[in-house]
Amino acid sequence: MKPTLMRPNPVSTGVSTPVVTPIQQSVVYATDAPDTLDAQYTGQEAGFTYAREGHPNAEALAARIDALEGAEGGLITGSGMAAVMAALMGVCGAGDHIIGGDQLYGRSLRLMTQDLPRFGLECTLVDTTDVDAVVAALKPNTRMILIEVVSNPTLRIADLHGIAELCKDRDVLLVVDNTFTTPRSVKPFESGADIVLHSVTKLLAGHADVTLGYVAARTPELRKAMYDFAVTTGLTPSPFECWLAERGLMTFDLRYDKAQATAQILAEHLAAQPDVLRAIYPSRGDHPDHLRTQSVLGGQAGNMVSFEIKGGRAAANAFSRAAQGVAFAPTLGDVGTTLSHPASSSHRALTPEDRAALGMSEGFFRVSVGLEDPDALMATFDAGLAAVRAL
Ligand SMILES: Cc1ncc(COP(=O)(O)O)c(C=O)c1O
Repeated sequence: MKPTLMRPNPVSTGVSTPVVTPIQQSVVYATDAPDTLDAQYTGQEAGFTYAREGHPNAEALAARIDALEGAEGGLITGSGMAAVMAALMGVCGAGDHIIGGDQLYGRSLRLMTQDLPRFGLECTLVDTTDVDAVVAALKPNTRMILIEVVSNPTLRIADLHGIAELCKDRDVLLVVDNTFTTPRSVKPFESGADIVLHSVTKLLAGHADVTLGYVAARTPELRKAMYDFAVTTGLTPSPFECWLAERGLMTFDLRYDKAQATAQILAEHLAAQPDVLRAIYPSRGDHPDHLRTQSVLGGQAGNMVSFEIKGGRAAANAFSRAAQGVAFAPTLGDVGTTLSHPASSSHRALTPEDRAALGMSEGFFRVSVGLEDPDALMATFDAGLAAVRAL
């Protein structure tokens, strides 16, 4: 007799339970009859059907991020951009107008300026540190405003509370990409956001080994719209990534606090170096929005530091080559510090003039501070600066 390949309960463990969420790679889930399947689809019975529509590892991860964000029924997506897509295209349609921050993540900017217009969505980018600029951009068909609370890479702090009030008054949906700030600094639902999303790839998963996103909504209607769009267009993740991210998330708060403390030390150190034109960190007194570090970020200024050196591209090359020990890589939120150069990566599509208008020269770097010893990290940056001086 041929052995059956179907295992009705592959995770049965008898009287004990695993302390770590098991990985359940199954793409399909079997039931006994069409009536049972009907009951699952109408919500009368619990149970998974097909992994693109949901699976235990995505649910376990979503529940953990929900708890951090104060959300219900969050959805895990295959990347942060998939979460942005689910929020924008799952909810808005042709004829709607969307306002976005003018310093959003580069691919979100591209989506809004080049892709969404092809589908009949109109988009306007504004300075979200200035609520009057947002008011001026409103149109009768404005349906949504997408902001990041701390901008990339100049670390400006949006007027979250002003924009949330405006959205409430004008019946516009507020979407917050909380990737940079994380629920450790900002819980956007508490400030009135309708949708909160993340690139889980970054600080939440935190180990540079998984690409995932998360999106949650205030109402069941918004949740359903995003879920249906994500499932139909295949924006949902596979189990192993969710499992890895859940493991990373276990240490998220410890990692965030440690990286934030070191970021503050590094920012002060860089600001004191004669070769550094400016060091940008939200809580520093010379930061244009430093008062919002308390009112918006609850005093949690985060792990990102930006700085500028003179000497243009040659100096930037010399710095990054000599700063051995930090990865020169366009990402953030890893266990190790990463150094990125917006002019050659995230903002390479802009003209030098447009970059200058946003305050980014060829000597501008963004640092995502990791978990290194602060003294060792400062020595690495000093080595970079010494190489620039030696040019
Ligand atoms: C603020 C922000 N949002 C969204 C994304 C997109 O995330 P992913 O790379 O996971 O698609 C990124 C990526 O860097 C980001 O920094």
